[in-house]
Parts: sequence; C-alpha cells; structure tokens
Amino acid sequence: MAQLQRLREVRERGQWIPRSDSLYDCTHIAVCDNLDMSDERLRAIYAATDADELQQRYDAWATEYDADLEALSYTAPIAGAEQCHRVVGPLATVLDAGCGTGLVGARLAALGVGRLVGFDLSAEMLRCAGERGVYAELVQGSLLEPLPFERHFDAVVSVGTFTFGHVGPDALAHLPAVVRPDGFVVMTFRDDVMRDMGFDRAVERLERDGVWRLEDRSDPAPLIVEDGVGADMRVWTWRVLG
Ligand SMILES: C[S@@+](CC[C@H](N)C(=O)[O-])C[C@H]1O[C@@H](n2cnc3c(N)ncnc32)[C@H](O)[C@@H]1O
Repeated sequence: MAQLQRLREVRERGQWIPRSDSLYDCTHIAVCDNLDMSDERLRAIYAATDADELQQRYDAWATEYDADLEALSYTAPIAGAEQCHRVVGPLATVLDAGCGTGLVGARLAALGVGRLVGFDLSAEMLRCAGERGVYAELVQGSLLEPLPFERHFDAVVSVGTFTFGHVGPDALAHLPAVVRPDGFVVMTFRDDVMRDMGFDRAVERLERDGVWRLEDRSDPAPLIVEDGVGADMRVWTWRVLG
C-alpha cells in the first residue's frame, strides 16, 4: 500500500493537473496491491543488454503486457495519445514509434485519427497491436536506425520507448526526420531519464540546430511505481521546423 500512498501524496501536492476531458486523470490512482509480477518483468526489461535481448523479452511479455501495465496504473499511452490528438486533430497521419501492443493507437483511434502507422522492434508486440484493428500499417524495425519512411507524417508519437535500456538520445533525430514541416513530435519521458541519459542535452541540440522548437511540456505526473519509488514523467511536444 506504500505505492498507493505515494501516488495520493503526489496528487495532494498538486503535481497532477486534472484535465476534465481526459481519461489521463481517471486511472492513475487505481494501483493494484499486487505489483510483484509486473515489477519482475520491468526489471528484466530494463536489464536487457542489447536490442536482440530486449526484443526477445518483449516477445515473451507481449500477451500479458497490457494486464501487467494496467496493474501498474500506466497512464503514459493515454497522455501521449491525448496530447498528439490535441496538437494535430482527428484527421492526421501519425506514426506511433515503439507502438508495443498498441495502447497509444487504441486511444488515438477512439479520439479520431486519419492514418495510423505502428513501428516496433518486437514481432509479438506488433502482433498484439494488429489485433486491435486500428493501425493501417505495422512495421517491424529499430529506432536506432534511420526510419524507413518518407518525411510525410503530421506527427510522431512515442511513449515509453526512449528510456533506460531501450533507445538513447542518439536516435532522437530519427523522429523529426519523418515529420512534415510544421508537424509535431510528441514523446513521454521520465524526468530521471531526461536528466540521467542526456536527453536534455540532445533535445536542446536539435533546437539549436533548427530541427524543432519546444511547443509544450506537461507538468510531472506519476508514471508507474517501481520498488515503492514513484517515477514521474512528462509529455513533451516539439514543432518540427522546415
Ligand atoms: C514500454 S514499451 C512501450 C510500448 C507502447 N508505446 C506503450 O506505451 O505501451 C517499449 C516498446 O519499445 C519497443 N522498442 C524497444 N527498443 C526499440 C527499438 N530499438 N526500436 C523500436 N522499438 C523498440 C519495445 O519492443 C516495446 O514495444
């Protein structure tokens, strides 16, 4: 119950800003008492030493991923999808980079999206995403490489993928490279990831280089609870320049 108490404290400190039209508000406090299995899986994921190992671990996790993350009150997909929809509207062509089982796509499709493309390393995660029936196209590949798309998306949304043991700051430039001028990149970052992995310097470098301009940064909100310690995250939005 310590985790539940921690989330309540975060909310009482006013770090969670309610938005009345948002599902994002509704789920974060419903932490389940049994976090052991999900904690164990998260530890295994973060401990993967290379992309092959990470892919295997996500392949093995795929069918139970949604239930485990729901138990951890994982709200980031809702937050990312809602912000993406807010900036590009309901008819946009969107790339979900690191789409996993399609939690972001499900919320985007419910809000309205023109054409949704999913991209992920794990074939099994992609198979689960396909079962949702909301992606026009699903492509397997690595965000560590330049992306196999033309520069035509209205937005790229990426949730929970640029993080410890996954995708580092060197790959950040691959996202705006497939977004049309004046389109958007919407990403969730844990605050500790932004600071400790050097994403803060990488995002500023892209701004200095005229690749994008910061459009919005949300207030911190609890992402998940690991080992009794809450991890705060924010939704970041950049406008891609010409
Ligand atoms: C924590 S999950 C997030 C999935 C989904 N966005 C969500 O919020 O539920 C991270 C995802 O990133 C994918 N991933 C990890 N490294 C990747 C890489 N180098 N290229 C593409 N996808 C990667 C994993 O396969 C996994 O589906």
